[in-house]
Amino acid sequence: MRIGIVGTGKMGREIEAVAASRGHDVVWRVGSKENPEGRGLSPERLAGADVVFEFTIPSAAVANLLALGSSGARAVCGTTGWSRDLPRVTEAFVKGGGALVHAANFSVGVRHFFELATRAARLFTPAGYASYLVEEHHEQKRDAPSGTAKTVATIFEMETGRSLSITSVRAGSIPGTHRLVFESPEDEVEIIHRSRSRAGFARGAVWAGERIAGRTGVYEFGELLNEASGGR
Ligand SMILES: NC(=O)c1ccc[n+]([C@@H]2O[C@H](COP(=O)([O-])OP(=O)(O)OC[C@H]3O[C@@H](n4cnc5c(N)ncnc54)[C@H](OP(=O)(O)O)[C@@H]3O)[C@@H](O)[C@H]2O)c1
Repeated sequence: MRIGIVGTGKMGREIEAVAASRGHDVVWRVGSKENPEGRGLSPERLAGADVVFEFTIPSAAVANLLALGSSGARAVCGTTGWSRDLPRVTEAFVKGGGALVHAANFSVGVRHFFELATRAARLFTPAGYASYLVEEHHEQKRDAPSGTAKTVATIFEMETGRSLSITSVRAGSIPGTHRLVFESPEDEVEIIHRSRSRAGFARGAVWAGERIAGRTGVYEFGELLNEASGGR
């Protein structure tokens, strides 16, 4: 595949390394200077790439996605913190005839963590356990709570009808830890996902890009994983 990268930070560089290791060509990359308000994403530039990866910052993502959507691009977006704009981004991709895969977390391990959180909420909350989530990330991460923590909170609320208390820590270079705790006066149960590096996110994102080449529509990463596993 010919790949374009919007956002040349930590994740953009990781995507580039994983894409190269899978035999894909990075044909262009765009940083913040060349792309104010998404204006660097011209139809000519986009025509040169089969799939575009967008890993930037919350305040830049929507303009980028609207430009990608209206040009009919195939895009994978991992930027977090823009989910309230999903309806208008979806509209742009549907009108433009391209495809988008988005996720707050492209790690397969985190997706299984979500499954465990669902099951645990069903078991422990009716049994009287209190629960909370602590998430820790490196000090440059701008959004808090993390998109992943918000997803766990949504799952928890759907399963139990209650809100989940979240504490965010931003320090040093922690790639990302999420700790979901269920506690009673007698005991405590923790489910922990600890990222060791960003490579897991990049591998999931590149896999998603391979799946949407040639497709149309807007997908959340979990939908593609379910489809690939035959809905198991
Ligand atoms: N979904 C997942 O699995 C996953 C995993 C990890 C991180 N993330 C998310 O992905 C995003 C990026 O993370 P990161 O660790 O790569 O952050 P980062 O190292 O801070 O990189 C962000 C990059 O975005 C660039 N940028 C800002 N505005 C731009 C624009 N208009 N056009 C092009 N580039 C622009 C910045 O460029 P300048 O430096 O020039 O300003 C910077 O290089 C964050 O939202 C993070 O939460 C998602």
